[in-house]
Amino acid sequence: MLVLGVETSCDETGVALVRDGALLSEVLASQTDMHAVFGGVVPEIASREHLRMLPLLLPQLLAKAGVTLGDVDAVAVARGPGLLGALLVGLSFAKGLCLGTGARLIGVNHLHAHLLAPGLESEIRYPALGLLVSGGHTHLYHMAGRPNGPTEFRLLSRTLDDAAGEAFDKVAKLLNLPYPGGRYLDELAQGAEPDTHLFPRAYISNDNLDFSFSGLKTAVAEELGKRPHLALKVMPSADELRGRGALALTAHPEELALVAASFNWAVAETLRIKVERALDREPGLRGLVVAGGVAANSFVRQAMTRVAKGRGLELRLPSLGLCTDNAAMIAHAGWQALCGGYGHGLDLESVPRGRAVPQDWSRAGVGEAVAEAPSGASSLHPA
Ligand code: KG4
Ligand code: ZN
Repeated sequence: MLVLGVETSCDETGVALVRDGALLSEVLASQTDMHAVFGGVVPEIASREHLRMLPLLLPQLLAKAGVTLGDVDAVAVARGPGLLGALLVGLSFAKGLCLGTGARLIGVNHLHAHLLAPGLESEIRYPALGLLVSGGHTHLYHMAGRPNGPTEFRLLSRTLDDAAGEAFDKVAKLLNLPYPGGRYLDELAQGAEPDTHLFPRAYISNDNLDFSFSGLKTAVAEELGKRPHLALKVMPSADELRGRGALALTAHPEELALVAASFNWAVAETLRIKVERALDREPGLRGLVVAGGVAANSFVRQAMTRVAKGRGLELRLPSLGLCTDNAAMIAHAGWQALCGGYGHGLDLESVPRGRAVPQDWSRAGVGEAVAEAPSGASSLHPA
């Protein structure tokens, strides 16, 4: 089965082809440099860019893969959560393709797709604990797996305020680094020993699995208030940072590296503690999946590698390109649902951030109005 994936939920425009669950080809156009100067994603710019790029990327993808649109059996599209306008562009594009070619349509939960992404590289061992750490979400899930159909996700916990990636981006902003700054903070910390007393591991003195990163962000802001010389005088462009690295742009490389390492450590440790707690509470887990943009973070990767090793769990950490937003993961997640016979009609709706993504697919797929949720699936959960 050849599945075309379409991703437009935020600031990456992606199309990818997955054949029988394996990646055939993908093309991705990132808008990050465009939004960097604004310190965050500007929704209207994102939507317009998706609209401009999709018709350019699709022919590139088909040529790269050596297939035609007629070969595509189904179109999987990220239907939420995300920026509403951006999602609508992808959704309309996907529906148009289905209408024109007769391909089946499947709407994909962007968060679930992140967690299923490692399956493109090696099989996920179920049942698994899934940690999704991205710019907008910090969620823990129980992933039950399913032999033939969509994986079942049970939401165990979430952040009460900022997402882990948001904390990275806000701290980066305080240092005058461009958006999204997570990767630069990671880079700045390389080789430095963290001061484990500098920042708190936020919201761990409780009995729950939820996260809260706003206190950590405030602690970093206070610390940087005492060290105003650490913020870069002029915000460098992403190109400058890619070329020279952030440490080359500061007069205080050692101090900046120490602060960055301590912050990275505090986030990674907070995540580790809650993951260990979840593993204690959920019996019988065999796998640990860590996904989303922050799964690219070296401190997080090391911490989760230690957890998995210590508990004999099979760890699935996507390669770096699969951590951040991409269409391969959408096509792959869509393929899994399609294998179970599920599909959506052309009345499929997009779901903005903050709203629950319903499991409203049906077995009949296109044209079938009556929804049928897969048995036992956690049908609704907050985005
Ligand atoms: O999953 P993603 O691409 O988009 C969302 O769905 O949000 O995640 C983007 C987030 C941003 O907050 C970015 O700063 C963060 O992932 N990120 C990192 C790293 N690479 C990306 N954070 C920490 N360390 C990294 N290496
Ligand atoms: Zn994402």
